[in-house]
Amino acid sequence: MEYAIEISGLTKKFGNFVAVDNLDLRVKVGEIFGFLGPNGAGKTTTIRMMCGLMRQTKGSIKIYGYSIPEERNELIKITGYMAQRFSLYEDLSVYENMEFFGKLYGLNGKNLENRILELLEFLDLKDVRRRLAGRLSGGMKQRLALGVALIHRPKLLVLDEPTAGVDPPIRRAFWEYLRGLNKEGTTILVTTHYMDEAENCDRIGLMNRGRLIAEGTPKELKRRVFGGDIVEVVLHGYVQEGTLEGVANLKELAYRDGDTVLRVVLKDASRELPALLRRIDGMGLKIISAEPINVTLEEVFIELVTGRIEKVAL
Ligand SMILES: Nc1ncnc2c1ncn2[C@@H]1O[C@H](COP(=O)(O)OP(=O)(O)O)[C@@H](O)[C@H]1O
Ligand SMILES: [Mg+2]
Repeated sequence: MEYAIEISGLTKKFGNFVAVDNLDLRVKVGEIFGFLGPNGAGKTTTIRMMCGLMRQTKGSIKIYGYSIPEERNELIKITGYMAQRFSLYEDLSVYENMEFFGKLYGLNGKNLENRILELLEFLDLKDVRRRLAGRLSGGMKQRLALGVALIHRPKLLVLDEPTAGVDPPIRRAFWEYLRGLNKEGTTILVTTHYMDEAENCDRIGLMNRGRLIAEGTPKELKRRVFGGDIVEVVLHGYVQEGTLEGVANLKELAYRDGDTVLRVVLKDASRELPALLRRIDGMGLKIISAEPINVTLEEVFIELVTGRIEKVAL
């Protein structure tokens, strides 16, 4: 099977308000798919429909070929879901929480025990297995929530803002676990606010006001939004904008300490930069430096969401 998730025309209305608007989305088996977008974009609503927790107003959802919500019982067996606000049982221990959720999934006896031990090991929770969940640190709680979502060895893991409000080192560590799971074959759909995390994803879907406004690999998105790679070229002295017309695709021109700073868009900097520098040099301008700019996904996201670019061709 090629797609773990196939969504088409998915719509959710709350009264007159359209929270999810005719959404088409496909996630391939084996991918880490990052589902991004500002607060209120409709990410959680989409996930809740995908997991059969809320019925769609319109549209079709297939998870590993199962139609949702009709075949929700099949879905539960193959999907692990970590909700935005996950509630562990604070007065149960780490082990007991896993045991409790494992039994809900129909695991028991030696099978369940072995699975719990395996997860405690994987998530570095072995030493705190008897500690009450309510007494765990933030990072440990988050790992326990992940452990609970993984108890039945799901093929698809759905995580709704698993790292919200967590410190950067813990977020990085959490992503190590996600990458480890993904290497072993788990397909992952994850929402996040943190653009640095989104760089870890194979593909990203950017949602705004209920719609998917862009989709692609991080690299593709950057190139599409800016029309290519961006290179910063510093020229000696004061060079007027008109001088470079037709020579370079200028995105920005500014002056710094009496020098001229250009931001130039090239379709593929590694191929086109030398020729551009030769052209500039040929005009008798003195090049001080030329460096590719590492555009962050945050910048891509701002360009897209502020509506400067209405819709990126998919
Ligand atoms: N049960 C509900 N009733 C009415 N409006 C809702 C409900 N759930 C979500 N919404 C609204 O739908 C929009 C999308 O919310 P949500 O899916 O939670 O966004 P996100 O997860 O991207 O922040 C928001 O404007 C939110 O207020
Ligand atoms: Mg949400």
